[in-house]
Amino acid sequence: RQNERESLYIILNFAKNFYRQQLEDSEEGQAVGLSYFRERGFTNEIRKKFELGYSLDTWDSFIREALEKGYSPEILEKAGLLIHREGSRPGDRQTTGYDRFRGRVIFPIHHVSGKVIAFGARILKSDKANANQKGANQPKYLNSPETDVYHKSDVLYGIFQAKNAIRQLDHCYLVEGYTDVISLHQAGIENVVASSGTSLTVEQIRLIGRFTPNVTILYDGDIAGIKAALRGLDLVLEEGLNVNVVLFPDGDDPDSFVRKVGAEAFKVHLKKASKDFISFKTEILLADAGNDPFRQAAVIGDVVNSIVKIPDAIKRQVFFHRTSEMMKVDEQMLITEGNKQLRKLQ
Ligand code: CTP
Ligand code: MN
Ligand code: MN
Ligand code: MN
Ligand code: MN
Repeated sequence: RQNERESLYIILNFAKNFYRQQLEDSEEGQAVGLSYFRERGFTNEIRKKFELGYSLDTWDSFIREALEKGYSPEILEKAGLLIHREGSRPGDRQTTGYDRFRGRVIFPIHHVSGKVIAFGARILKSDKANANQKGANQPKYLNSPETDVYHKSDVLYGIFQAKNAIRQLDHCYLVEGYTDVISLHQAGIENVVASSGTSLTVEQIRLIGRFTPNVTILYDGDIAGIKAALRGLDLVLEEGLNVNVVLFPDGDDPDSFVRKVGAEAFKVHLKKASKDFISFKTEILLADAGNDPFRQAAVIGDVVNSIVKIPDAIKRQVFFHRTSEMMKVDEQMLITEGNKQLRKLQ
């Protein structure tokens, strides 16, 4: 088992180097992949730091190279790099399968130790352009499947490149996407990791918790992002971490926003727009409740519901106090409601 994991790390590293080389040195890679990254404003240095690559738009350039180097079709499939072609005979090299990643820019996903464990791969067109092109049903990002070394729910994109900064600054920014992490690094913000689109998991939060208890969520400025931030903050609280939230203008994510306004204005926005979880949740829910007094009353119950997720009793008390002041309601009433909810949880 240990041996097999080692072989997976080796083939994944080989693939990473292959995609790197295709990006930087091949004609197609330069014309297509490099120009894509340059258009997004990624520098040579940042491509190197994140080991970005490109997979040629062919059926099998990678697996042919790997088979030639002596890697077996089985290990290529176990690494998630080869898709088995039905009906092909074992040992028949030409028909054994094809490359999972074709004609995409490649984002290697690193374990906290720095080993490559998976890949994310993006189509080259923008979302909108893709809808009008051939192959319109292709997903924007294609990721490695679950393997013996890649469990999506345990992984945070960028943790290897961010961990020292997170520890030093005692603070971690949490974003949605690969390009958010990369753009923020380029803007000089290195304590940042991505949940990679899925809803945040307990394992991901514990991974952050190894380096700092302080998290700020920077999700996309759209309804999906706000909803994900609301769900995520309860989970972060439950794990005993401290959580703040920054919202971006509708339609922007950290990557597009930092490119729009520049690194300095971006940092100012982080300071100015950062909210503790109660202010964030209250504002979002109250806006949603409109003028309906019953729904406004329900917001208080919802906020109390987040507070009772905090394991530490002293922190809970502080947040009950703040909420009573913010919402101009009796603190004792909040505590009574909180105790009621706590009993239900137990
Ligand atoms: N994602 C995914 N598969 C998809 C879409 C998204 O795995 N089909 C993940 C990726 O990790 C992506 C993240 O969810 O980075 C956030 O999605 P989205 O905001 O749509 O993409 P961006 O990261 O903003 O990518 P880009 O700027 O390249 O459009
Ligand atoms: Mn999004
Ligand atoms: Mn984006
Ligand atoms: Mn996004
Ligand atoms: Mn008080």
